[in-house]
Amino acid sequence: MTEPVIDRALVELRGVSKRFGGTQALDEVSIEVRSGEIHAFVGENGAGKSTLGKVIAGIYTADRGGVVIDGAPVDRWNPGIAQGRGIAMIAQELALVPDLTVAQNVFLGAEEHRLGVLRRNVDERFAALDAEVGFGLDPRARVRDLRIAEQQKVEILRSLARDARVIVMDEPTSSLTAHEMSQLEDLMRTLRDRGCCVIYVSHFLDSVLGVADRITVMRDGRRIDTFEAAAVSKHQLVTAMLGRELDQAYPDRPAAPGADQAPVLVARSVRTRTGVEDMSFEVRPGEIVGLLGLVGSGRTECLRAVFGVDEIVGGAVEFGGRDWTGRTPKHSIDAGLILVSEDRHKDGLVLQRSVRENIALSSLGARALGGVIRSGQEKREALEVARSVEIRPLDIELPVGWFSGGNQQKALLGKALAASPKMIILDEPTRGVDVGAKRAIYELIVRLATEGIGVLLISSEHEEVMELAHRAYLVSEGRTFAEIIPTETTVEDVLFQLFHVASGEEAAA
Ligand SMILES: Nc1ncnc2c1ncn2[C@@H]1O[C@H](COP(=O)(O)OP(=O)(O)OP(=O)(O)O)[C@@H](O)[C@H]1O
Ligand SMILES: [Mg+2]
Repeated sequence: MTEPVIDRALVELRGVSKRFGGTQALDEVSIEVRSGEIHAFVGENGAGKSTLGKVIAGIYTADRGGVVIDGAPVDRWNPGIAQGRGIAMIAQELALVPDLTVAQNVFLGAEEHRLGVLRRNVDERFAALDAEVGFGLDPRARVRDLRIAEQQKVEILRSLARDARVIVMDEPTSSLTAHEMSQLEDLMRTLRDRGCCVIYVSHFLDSVLGVADRITVMRDGRRIDTFEAAAVSKHQLVTAMLGRELDQAYPDRPAAPGADQAPVLVARSVRTRTGVEDMSFEVRPGEIVGLLGLVGSGRTECLRAVFGVDEIVGGAVEFGGRDWTGRTPKHSIDAGLILVSEDRHKDGLVLQRSVRENIALSSLGARALGGVIRSGQEKREALEVARSVEIRPLDIELPVGWFSGGNQQKALLGKALAASPKMIILDEPTRGVDVGAKRAIYELIVRLATEGIGVLLISSEHEEVMELAHRAYLVSEGRTFAEIIPTETTVEDVLFQLFHVASGEEAAA
């Protein structure tokens, strides 16, 4: 192996512009990424980060400007050519084949007989690759059965299997646990030290500051600045991203409902076949209640069962004073119990349809009953909802798939609001959303509670629950084991309890 040459430009973009309809996604962007660096792209939703990554990876070709690889301009550019030049991208919207296994996805289309090397058993090659990064994935599991965090790991292995020397990771950490995130950061460092360039697109500025060598800030399709990570503060980054100072991150918590109020949603010792052992909680109208746990603790699974997606095999659920055990999602939606799931594509949005249609889908059932869909009204309502969640650009006739990741998340929330919920369950509502838009979502949560709607909130950013919820339950291994009042404790204390229980120290004591 030859010594990696550090600080050589691997990919250079010169004055690249890219337009989608009326949106200037990239505007004269010049940038170079070098061997031996972790180069982060940060910016608000819709700033152009993914588009920039996709031009680098050959998925999009620029309208104007050029791509230079290893010092030589390229005249043709597509994903195949880019891959041949050692450039891979882990897209924000994962692109795995759900019906194939983990190992099949990892090696799909990879040149395995290069240099005449004997094709080794796929399981064996997989094990070697997986051991290198320590993910511990089951090669034979079907991708469709994996959680998003696991699917992201499969994507990462896919690019490693291709010996990429430039790897664009578009929000790879958005649904990983803290531990998985630090594993991934270690992996990025390993790749860098081998002379690769890792392009790291993320909204987790702390992680970016901790791991990146250089940070490029994008805003409105333009490259605003590129900083040496060691010489820039989080405050400077946020200000460059927004083009202004950020107001306070969280709105004030609304007043808590009286303890005498009857709960709108109750779970009593719920058990499922999906890993929920014994979960109990209640939510009153106008109350924001959090579930705090590590990824994989069973929070999502419990909520799916309460909503009616998965079967409940023990315990009971009550909604609006009625027994709600074993209902279907349709029952729940019709009665105003709404789940906004963490996987916006699988469970939430129809990408080819417009924002208006997606928003209307949730309330269409009721309206179509009369046989006629009042389209003028539908349009006005959809626009109002889209505005309240700050979808940008505010054009509800565009297909949802055309919007940036964070704006798709806002569309999903809009869809839930249009269904006139009595009780809303939010699973990772700010995943992939930028700092400015997060604040808009927090305000929305507070507004819902103020209007008397019960809110159940799951977030892996524990701070969100701690800053917004009136009460929260701690969850580990499928059980709710404690209840806390966020204003009376700290994130550190919560984490301590979560890890303490998860590591089984309690049982040993
Ligand atoms: N395929 C497409 N068709 C139409 N418009 C697009 C397409 N891809 C991106 N855009 C638009 O280009 C702009 C830049 O989008 P991009 O996905 O690059 O943003 P981003 O910085 O990655 O945002 P996020 O943080 O939300 O992922 C957005 O306004 C988006 O709506
Ligand atoms: Mg993006």
